Amino acid sequence: SSKKFWCFLQRTPSKNSNLPMNDFHDWLFQKQAFVESVLEKNLPKASDETHLNEAIKYSVLNGGKRMRSLLVLAIAEIVEAPPIAIENIICAVEFIHAYSLVHDDMPCMDNDDLRRGKLSCHKKFSESTALLVGDSLQSIAFSLLSSPSLQINPKNQLQIIHILANAIGIEGMTKGQALDIDNTNKKISLDKLKLMHQFKTGALINSACLMAVLASNNYDKKTLDIIDTYSKSIGLMFQIKDDILDKEASQEVLGKTPGKDEKYNKATFLSLLGITKSKELAATYYEEAVTVIKPFGDKAYYLASMAELIMARSH
Ligand code: IPE
Ligand code: IPE
Ligand code: MG
Ligand code: MG
Ligand code: MG
Repeated sequence: SSKKFWCFLQRTPSKNSNLPMNDFHDWLFQKQAFVESVLEKNLPKASDETHLNEAIKYSVLNGGKRMRSLLVLAIAEIVEAPPIAIENIICAVEFIHAYSLVHDDMPCMDNDDLRRGKLSCHKKFSESTALLVGDSLQSIAFSLLSSPSLQINPKNQLQIIHILANAIGIEGMTKGQALDIDNTNKKISLDKLKLMHQFKTGALINSACLMAVLASNNYDKKTLDIIDTYSKSIGLMFQIKDDILDKEASQEVLGKTPGKDEKYNKATFLSLLGITKSKELAATYYEEAVTVIKPFGDKAYYLASMAELIMARSH
């Protein structure tokens, strides 16, 4: 379950910190439970007519680490944003992410039977259902973001919708997925690999973080720039770790089939750089991320801790 993700981490903040909740571990558990409840609240009700709603629930509420949501919440500790806006952003991001995983696992893509320690959606239900789960989640995400009850000014709200739309489309996630397929069985340059990963996984992480800032009605440009840089470094670090874990982790811990990248001859950081250089590169991005948020001071404690967690994660 997702709990495994957190349990190894125990860290306390600097002594002179006056943070109200000063233990990252407590914060994680509390926020993760919050994310689960918010997701559940916004999922469609069961339907007698089709399996679709059941399959949607199955694909969202199945033990994800909620890393993107936790980044949003760690940013909400820095900027002031209406809780309802943060809730809807979290749902939109997790729904899009879940959709991307459901489609990524399908036989025409990575053909993976296992996701988050359970049967992948198309295995549990059917391929046609999996396809429609993805389509539905994408539409629900934009419905939530365009809701009139978000309490952010219309200009920011429109910008939020625009950012997410761009992040997951042909200059974002779907482009990255297309490159991932095209680059299979190919040796590509490090620059091309980085670009592919920036599109494939970086863009959604970046957009989640930017949306959290834009949800604040009085954010400043400097904050947006810092969060932009932070989230881009985190995105690359996250995917390097994903590639490393595909090689190093066991199926039990990973909750998905390990060794698949090598088996299918995928272009990954590991195949290009090897394990030692990949780890060094991840460490470089980690340093970049925690350095750029220094101007936020103590308020960035949770955001810095998230970087550390993503760097140290075991699945
Ligand atoms: C896995 O993402 C897929 C990639 C984008 C590389 P996560 O590792 O965030 O997956 P969950 O949500 O925790 O299952
Ligand atoms: C998935 O990347 C990226 C998206 C779903 C957009 P991977 O194919 O590496 O993810 P896993 O390893 O199956 O989770
Ligand atoms: Mg894939
Ligand atoms: Mg995959
Ligand atoms: Mg992977």
